[in-house]
Amino acid sequence: MELPTVVGPLGNATEIEKYGTVLCVGGCYGIGSIFPIARALKQAGNKVITLIEARSSYLFYWEERYKEISDQFVHITRDGTKGYKGHVDRLPEIIKSLDEPVDRVIVNGCTYCLKRVSDATRPLEIPTWVSLNPIMIDGTGMCGVCRVSVGSETRFACVHGPDFDGHEVNWEELLQRRKTYMPEEVVPLRTSKSEEHPHQHREGCHG
Ligand code: FES
Repeated sequence: MELPTVVGPLGNATEIEKYGTVLCVGGCYGIGSIFPIARALKQAGNKVITLIEARSSYLFYWEERYKEISDQFVHITRDGTKGYKGHVDRLPEIIKSLDEPVDRVIVNGCTYCLKRVSDATRPLEIPTWVSLNPIMIDGTGMCGVCRVSVGSETRFACVHGPDFDGHEVNWEELLQRRKTYMPEEVVPLRTSKSEEHPHQHREGCHG
């Protein structure tokens, strides 16, 4: 494998403190990226509940690693092949089923996953921190492409983030900005072998 360019790490490290009971949610690539956060939270003395979600159970990985650092480990699959069936929209009932209240939620995953978790925890008033992944160009705070609205402020995810209060993020604006290059993003798909299968389509992680 060849990596032509790598930049990072960008922004600020996730704040690790003793919060009490922390629910770590990982979807998509977040299944991998939430692991060091969950491990650090455990080492800091938190009770860690890990929730990973995917389209189907065959997409899960690192489950043994998660079991080692999690006090409780929960799965969601959209096809119901493991754990709860559905999406992170099922979070309220999952949280209610836990033995104790959740003091903080930390989420890594696609923008839809981050938004849905934030929407689910807002009425429950559980502080929720999301790792934002807007489109980035320079990654140094100069181009402004990664700007997001958080509360009344404009923030650059590459230098001020990536972690923000999910209840304060302007999700509609962020989702709109994420779609900016969608036509260009599908060009390689149209010109790839998948063209031979006209009914085949890319299923996004929010699909
Ligand atoms: S990527 Fe350019 S300001 Fe963040």
